Order: sequence, then C-alpha cells, then structure tokens
Amino acid sequence: MRVLGIETSCDETAVAIVDDGIDMKSNVVASSMQLHVKYGGVVPEIAARSHIEAIIPTIQEAIEQADTNWDEIDAIAVTYGAGLGGSLLIGVLTARTLAITKGKPLIACNHVLGHVYANFIRKTNLENYDIVDQAPEFPMLAIIVSGGHTQLALFESHLKYRLLGRTQDDAIGEAFDKVAKILGLPYPGGPSISAAALKGDDRAFILPKAKVGKYDFSFSGLKTAVLRLAQQQVGESFDFPSYRLPERLNEGQKANIAASFQRVAIETIADKVITAIDEFKPNSVVLAGGVAANKALRDKLASVVPCSLVIPDIKLCTDNGAMIAALGGWQLKNNLPLADPYTLDIAPNLTM
Ligand code: KG4
Ligand code: ZN
Repeated sequence: MRVLGIETSCDETAVAIVDDGIDMKSNVVASSMQLHVKYGGVVPEIAARSHIEAIIPTIQEAIEQADTNWDEIDAIAVTYGAGLGGSLLIGVLTARTLAITKGKPLIACNHVLGHVYANFIRKTNLENYDIVDQAPEFPMLAIIVSGGHTQLALFESHLKYRLLGRTQDDAIGEAFDKVAKILGLPYPGGPSISAAALKGDDRAFILPKAKVGKYDFSFSGLKTAVLRLAQQQVGESFDFPSYRLPERLNEGQKANIAASFQRVAIETIADKVITAIDEFKPNSVVLAGGVAANKALRDKLASVVPCSLVIPDIKLCTDNGAMIAALGGWQLKNNLPLADPYTLDIAPNLTM
C-alpha cells in the first residue's frame, strides 16, 4: 500500500510517500516559517497563501523523490484537523481534488495522531534519517508535545487508545514560544530556548510546577512566573511591559532563565510519564510532536523510562507529511472507513 500524505495544518506545506505505514519513500517540507519570524508567530493568512503557492510543487517533488508515479500510488491521506482553518483547507481541497481526478481512495487523518504514527516509520532509503527498525510494542504510552498539544495517551493496539490527560491551558511548545518572546529570542521559541539554555544554569532560578489532575498539564502559570522573574531581574515592578524586557536583560540572565524554564517544563512532563509507567506498565513509550525535537527532553526521558523508548528522527518530530502518510497506511490496514472526496470538511478543533 503506497500512500501519499499531505499535511498543511500550520505553516509547513508537507508531502510524503510511505509504503504500508512503515517505509518512507519521500518526505518534502516547504515551510513559510521565515515569513512569520518578524511577527513572532504564525500569521494564518500568510500561511494559507504560502500553502496555495507551495502545494502543487511540493506534491510533485515528493513523487519525484520517491521515484514513483500516480499509477503506483494507492491512496491519498490528508490532515483534516486540528489546525488553522485556512491552512487545513488548502490541503484538504487539494487532496479531495486529486482523489477524484486520479481515482484514489481518500483517508482523513488527525494531525495529533499523525505525530504518534511518525514512530511507526521504520525504514527509508532517504539519506540523513536516523531510524531504528524496531516497532513500538503495545501497550504503548504516547507523549504528545507540540505547539498546539500536550497530552498523554495509552494505546492498547493500533489506533485504539485512551486519552489519560491533556493540558488545561497552554501547550508546552506554546510555553517555549511565549517564554522566548519574553526573553527576546527569535521565533520559533523551542529551538531558541534550548540553544540559550545550553549556556545557562538550569538551577539558577526556582520556578513553579503546576498542580493539576494526575495526568493533566498546565503551562500558563510557568510562563507567568517567567515573566515575573524577568521583571524582577531587571529591577522593575510587575506592571513593567514585557516588550521592553529583552533590551534590559543581559545574555547571562536570558540563558539562566531559559535553562531554568526548560528544566521545569521537562520535569513536568517526566513526572507524569513516570506516574503513568508505574500505573499502566506499558511495553513501550513513544514521543511525538515538535517539542520532541528538544534534546534535553529526549535525554531526560531516556534516563527515566525503564522500557523501550522510541523517538522519531528530529525531521519527523516537527510537522511533516510522512507521519500523515504513515497514519493513512495504518488506517487502511486496520480497515478504518475512508473519507468521501466530495464532502470531507476541515475540523480545526479536532481532538484525539
Ligand atoms: O508539532 P509542531 O511542529 O507543530 C504543532 O503541531 O504544533 O510543533 C511546533 C512546536 C513549536 O512550539 C516549537 O517551538 C516547538 O515545537 N519546538 C521545540 C523545539 N523544536 C520545535 N520546542 C522545544 N525544543 C525544541 N528543540
Ligand atoms: Zn504538529
């Protein structure tokens, strides 16, 4: 089963081809990220316009990179939620049109579940991918950490899962992005914070861990605590405007705040993971979503997870088409219903 996957939920126009949910034949990502940098976050209208320009060339490139053609493609998978409405629309309308004109089955994929299924890609001939040929075993605990989601899910088998808990406010990636903004570090905040943290002392400051439900998360209090800390560090009161903090904080203060924030954010995830492992005794733990690219998080989990820990190659952690093509393949294998190419709608608020 050769599946072409299309992912346009945010600022990446991403297309890939994966065989049987396992073997990645191509993976092409065109990002409009550089256009958003000066605004400090993704501007939905700019992202949607960029998808319109990039989608056809990206599909073409994915087909060429896989050295295949439409006759050999068995199905088209597309992200229909969650994400930005305008961005999702471009991917879904393109996939619907192709499914009709090329006469291919259409598979509707949940973006967040797609992140989890990046962990089932076990083979590729593409260069520069670090992939281990070991499928995660069930029961499987999935840690989903991205710009829009922070949740723990327990999978008893393929596509059968129970959500254990989720964030009650900000997602962890969002917290990285907001803290980066407070410190004046460039967007996207995740990579900027982790780079700054390398130069700082992660025990320089005590920051609070939120007290929420057993498997739930909350990061907005941590973000506010960082803001208060930064104001205090420059000797100002709590009504000092955050946009003036970057010019007042020195490099050492920024590095120490970044490191202390990152440590607490990562420990928050690790604490819940340890609790879930004790309770559910999974055979594997998988990490998914853009924040899975964070080296300190990977290292921390590697030190606390007693069973097999599977983490995708960094290029498969942030948004990509391969995770959608892989998920599409597994949905086909498990006989999940196909989507109707004449009616499939976007679902910007879709949850797992
Ligand atoms: O999964 P993703 O590409 O998009 C969503 O579905 O949200 O995740 C993007 C998020 C952003 O918040 C970004 O700052 C974060 O992932 N991120 C990181 C790192 N690389 C990306 N966070 C922490 N450390 C990183 N190295
Ligand atoms: Zn994502």
